[in-house]
Amino acid sequence: MAQVRDQWTTRAGFILAAVGSAIGLGNIWRYPYVAYENGGGAFLIPYFFALLTAGIPILLLEYVLGHRSRGSSPISYRRLSQKWEWLGWWQALLAFVISTYYMIILAWALSYTWFSFGTQWGEDTESFFFGQYLGSNQAEGFWDIGGLQWSVVIPVVLLWAFVYFVMRRQAHRGIERMARIMMPILIGMMVVFTIRGITLEGATAGLNALLTPDFSALTDPNVWVAAYGQVFFSLSVGFATMITYASYLKKDEDLANSGLIAAFANSGFEFMAAIGIFGALGFLATQSGTEVEHVVGQTIGLAFVIFPRIISELPWLNSLFGVLFFGSLVFAGLTSVVSLVEPSVSAIRDKLGVARTTAVNWICGLAALVSLLYATNGGLIYLDVVDHYLNSYGLLIGAILMAVATAWTTRKIRDLQAHINQVSDIHIGNWWVLCVSVITPLVLIVMTGLNIVDEWKVPYGGYEISGLLVIGWGSLIITVIAAVIFQRLAWKTDDALTSHEKEGA
Ligand code: TRP
Repeated sequence: MAQVRDQWTTRAGFILAAVGSAIGLGNIWRYPYVAYENGGGAFLIPYFFALLTAGIPILLLEYVLGHRSRGSSPISYRRLSQKWEWLGWWQALLAFVISTYYMIILAWALSYTWFSFGTQWGEDTESFFFGQYLGSNQAEGFWDIGGLQWSVVIPVVLLWAFVYFVMRRQAHRGIERMARIMMPILIGMMVVFTIRGITLEGATAGLNALLTPDFSALTDPNVWVAAYGQVFFSLSVGFATMITYASYLKKDEDLANSGLIAAFANSGFEFMAAIGIFGALGFLATQSGTEVEHVVGQTIGLAFVIFPRIISELPWLNSLFGVLFFGSLVFAGLTSVVSLVEPSVSAIRDKLGVARTTAVNWICGLAALVSLLYATNGGLIYLDVVDHYLNSYGLLIGAILMAVATAWTTRKIRDLQAHINQVSDIHIGNWWVLCVSVITPLVLIVMTGLNIVDEWKVPYGGYEISGLLVIGWGSLIITVIAAVIFQRLAWKTDDALTSHEKEGA
């Protein structure tokens, strides 16, 4: 059956969609906290090291895989060698699983945008969030799932409905148009937010806390692990997103330049958000007469417990500041969540030859159902565990396998380099080959090893082992099995595939 492949309208449309994917919750709400916890100003050193030696090289690797095959991730890997098709499925499936809990955090942010009007969270923002809003029963056992928490179910269903209608349309009409509308608004909102943040009384105390370098952090391997984790997550690499997005580019479109633009836009946004947020934290510390370190919460707490307090304390227009902050999270998150769903939509269409709408019906429907698991009283725990396992093990192992697949077993890395150079203005030298085939996999192997050793000693989050095995390792293993099954299914489309199989492998 002949398929009409999606295509971006212009290169700018692709860059916007890619930047829309990259800029997400990771930039606004994860980065400031991670930077602060891992050496403050000194964190920039491992951050830039990871960005330049791993983040950007793997981003370009994904671009070229997708662009060269102009197919979804299973096709892109299959074109290296038929044996590697499963890796494309695995990464797309991991992205799908991430979308199911990523959306939950968007749902919280949507609710909090609404709560910002008249600061509806009251005095005790912590018990409001965990108790009243999430109805969390964390004190009970791992398996006490409780019932559905309607205050979360309703926004999550609304958001999935919205994403569903965006994704039903072809990529350039749905995803690209959404990015064209939302990204400028988001950037505008974030600029206003940051200006307000740094002009608040006491902001300098916050900025000092964020930027004062703690060079001793550089000797701690966990700081480097955090830098890699942040760079990968923030750039949206490792889960087939960029393979899929690049596959919708026209034939002779520049890759290297687009990659650098996307990467630096993403980091710039991250730095800006961090400055605004820490300005606001400095304000809160000054108001409560304490040090900044006493007001910085954990990641989740920072956005949903501490920020509400800041918003309530503001002298004027506090609802507006709340809308700017939580509304930015929603906008940034929406353009990211579609990029987590698109890889599996694209893969299923290519393999089964179904219409885009059919694939989207199934995938968004299933994702929304899985989301409900985290919209329960016990859901926070599952969210935490799934996130940890996917973003440490799934991501690291996947990225190591990417290097193995391209550089070591099939030895196609030089072809890939040549492809980038053929279409791009900026030429990619051998440093790229070295980073992708040697430096990055080595660092990642060491990191995975350290992770495993650490968690052998202390189970992640102090949760029950049975829970970690079933939910954490379980989600990794199920996705691998599903990937192998998908690889074994017969291809229902021929045009996507045969042209390459004839040319290439
Ligand atoms: N980059 C997004 C963020 O910063 C998250 C994200 C979207 C992502 N798509 C991805 C992460 C693909 C990894 C892979 O919030």
